[in-house]
Amino acid sequence: MQRYDSIAEVLKLEDKTSRSIGQSIVVTATGEIPQTLHSTMTSHFNSEYPSIEHLRAKAKSRMPGFAYDYLAAGCFSEVNLARNASDIRKVQLKPWYLRDFAGADQTTELFGETYDAPFGIAPVGLQGLMWPKACEFLAQAAVDHNVPFTLSTVSTASIEDVSKITNGRFWFQLYHPAEDDLRDKLLERAWEAGCRTLVILADTPTFAYRPKEIRNGLSIPPQMTLRNIVQMFMSPSWAMGQLAAGKPEFKTMKQYIPKGLSMKHLGLFMNKTFSGRLTEAKIAPIREKWKGNLVVKGIVNPEDAEVAIKHGLDGMIVSNHGGRQLDRGQSTIVPLSRLAPEFGDKIKVMIDGGMYSGADIAACLACGADFTFMGRSPMFGVCALGRYGGQHTLEMLKKQLQQVMEQVGCSQVSRLPEHLIAESVPG
Ligand SMILES: Cc1cc2nc3c(=O)[nH]c(=O)nc-3n(C[C@H](O)[C@H](O)[C@H](O)COP(=O)(O)O)c2cc1C
Repeated sequence: MQRYDSIAEVLKLEDKTSRSIGQSIVVTATGEIPQTLHSTMTSHFNSEYPSIEHLRAKAKSRMPGFAYDYLAAGCFSEVNLARNASDIRKVQLKPWYLRDFAGADQTTELFGETYDAPFGIAPVGLQGLMWPKACEFLAQAAVDHNVPFTLSTVSTASIEDVSKITNGRFWFQLYHPAEDDLRDKLLERAWEAGCRTLVILADTPTFAYRPKEIRNGLSIPPQMTLRNIVQMFMSPSWAMGQLAAGKPEFKTMKQYIPKGLSMKHLGLFMNKTFSGRLTEAKIAPIREKWKGNLVVKGIVNPEDAEVAIKHGLDGMIVSNHGGRQLDRGQSTIVPLSRLAPEFGDKIKVMIDGGMYSGADIAACLACGADFTFMGRSPMFGVCALGRYGGQHTLEMLKKQLQQVMEQVGCSQVSRLPEHLIAESVPG
């Protein structure tokens, strides 16, 4: 056993030696690190950025304003965006210091897979616009850390690109094509590529009203206003990266988009191709055709949860699209706390929205989530640090969650609810 006086000392040591990831920061009450927890994977942990807040600030300084706004903004006055995070932070956990404790294990089983941590990467569209190759970098980070990666239909890497990176171990989020034929083609491509978990989306029945994006002209397609062009010139590493990576495109959709479409017509094409509202009539044939796990994202009330169960869905993600669609909705931790006890024996109940630390993840798991997902946090990592920013972020979140579990004396993720102080749950 080696002895260290502070966490900072341990983190610096990890930076220097590029050693273990995962459970590496188990420091016992006497300041010792058990040597057995060191693994062989290279660490990309960067002690200059020990929190998502640090990564967000760095990302903001490197990205053109319109790209940062696209990532960070919510709809209307961003009330629900803020509430997602602030409500999670109200949750309190109870530690047990004096009982026997052999260590904390983050390993989590989900849909027959064993993941190294109880969190994954949520689908994010247009990632390559926010940082060149962001989608590919994050897919690789998820592989390195053995956590799920979800590809959006409107991402800038294709189903086939992500299949190659992840060796077919990825989730795919389907926007609903208006035409059944296109839906079937996308389902077939995802299945052929190895994907076994399909995510369908409930919470985008209409377009989003995000004042910052409207002002920036960042709709689909993005408009190249003078202000946006100036912002690109002020962000040299972003601009150089874009030059090297090539113009971001909807790679999965590319083969269905008529060639030579002007930017204006591309927007019209995308609007016509996808119909936002998910209905029971749309769920039924997807359930029929998709032989893998089927998950619905955007559930926030028991009535919709019952529909998901009625149609034999395997999972639901309690989500409000990261506060990007409805500004007067509930924060996600509130419905999670009701839906998990009510439906948790019939369907996997997951959550996303507002998690920016291992403590936030622990709070959601304590409120009954089987698994958690994050959209912005991993993106801040890549936009701040580039190629290995995703690895840094996932490693950091694992360390943080490990610290919380060790601190409260929780041996397994599924036992976090035992540490919940019920009166602290908002709602
Ligand atoms: C920039 C951005 C783009 C997104 N694009 C998609 C998308 O294409 N499909 C989807 O299902 N969700 C999308 N989402 C929502 C995320 O999957 C997720 O629900 C949300 O980001 C969770 O909140 P968090 O960012 O606070 O973690 C997007 C979110 C952001 C921030």
